[in-house]
Amino acid sequence: MSNSVSIYEKPKMVFLDTVDVKNYVNIDRASTLYQSLKESVQKPLKMILLFGKPGTGKSMLLLKLHSDLSDKQKIYLYSTPLIDESEFFKSLATDLFHVRYEGALNFTQFVKIAKSCKSQSVPIILLDEAQLYPSELMEKIRLLSDSRIVKFVIVLHKTEKEDLIAKEHFQTRIWESIELENASSNEIKAYIQKKLMKENCFDSANMFTDKAANLIHKITNGNYRDTNKLVHSVFEIYEWYDMNQPYKLNRVMIPHKIIEMAAIATGLINA
Ligand SMILES: Nc1ncnc2c1ncn2[C@@H]1O[C@H](COP(=O)(O)OP(=O)(O)OP(=O)(O)O)[C@@H](O)[C@H]1O
Ligand SMILES: [Mg+2]
Repeated sequence: MSNSVSIYEKPKMVFLDTVDVKNYVNIDRASTLYQSLKESVQKPLKMILLFGKPGTGKSMLLLKLHSDLSDKQKIYLYSTPLIDESEFFKSLATDLFHVRYEGALNFTQFVKIAKSCKSQSVPIILLDEAQLYPSELMEKIRLLSDSRIVKFVIVLHKTEKEDLIAKEHFQTRIWESIELENASSNEIKAYIQKKLMKENCFDSANMFTDKAANLIHKITNGNYRDTNKLVHSVFEIYEWYDMNQPYKLNRVMIPHKIIEMAAIATGLINA
């Protein structure tokens, strides 16, 4: 009863929505983009733009890049935007030049520090959620890139219309822009199965047929975050049946009905 745990508890936990590099899986298109991102940061580019709709895996890619490169070069990940200019430059001064600055630090002062602390290699700053930075600060970030004091990887999440604006806006200054797109049905299937297999949940992985993946893709539109939510809920429902009406469970493949129940439970479709 209360001390027994369903076998579906573990696969359910696999789909908790976390951005942790330990959980990174290779998905074809995203891996290709990751490789080009990794190559781009080694090129003498001033700025790199990574953009795409919410839930397409941008933060995950940044995290992976940071973890893969951090023992080889100066690379810093700013996951949460520092929208206050002085806080931003103070934090850069500490990370890049080990300078702790009392009081406020403005752009001009920061450039002075940077010029007096010239290092051999250009450090890389990964800026997640860059759409939240005020435009005056973004302008200074661009100036810093232009003067090759710091190389920035800018991550923007934008809705469709704004994507284009963002692109145009950066076109002249960004030498490389990488767009992450929503996953295809095959990629959603690979994503779910790889995540499960990584945790040795082979039977659960096998339950996701092409048809199940197609339906999940239709509901989530290839958004990884929504896919996590949906699949987590699928296993929650499996868990409930396993504990209460186990004879009703299809343990070979996930029935459409359960995916639909999960979609309603998570608010991804309306009842
Ligand atoms: N390659 C991957 N490997 C494992 N999990 C992934 C991968 N890509 C995305 N995910 C999962 O999808 C979720 C959403 O991805 P992520 O947070 O990176 O999206 P995002 O593009 O940064 O979204 P937003 O624009 O809302 O910040 C993550 O919590 C993670 O669980
Ligand atoms: Mg993100």
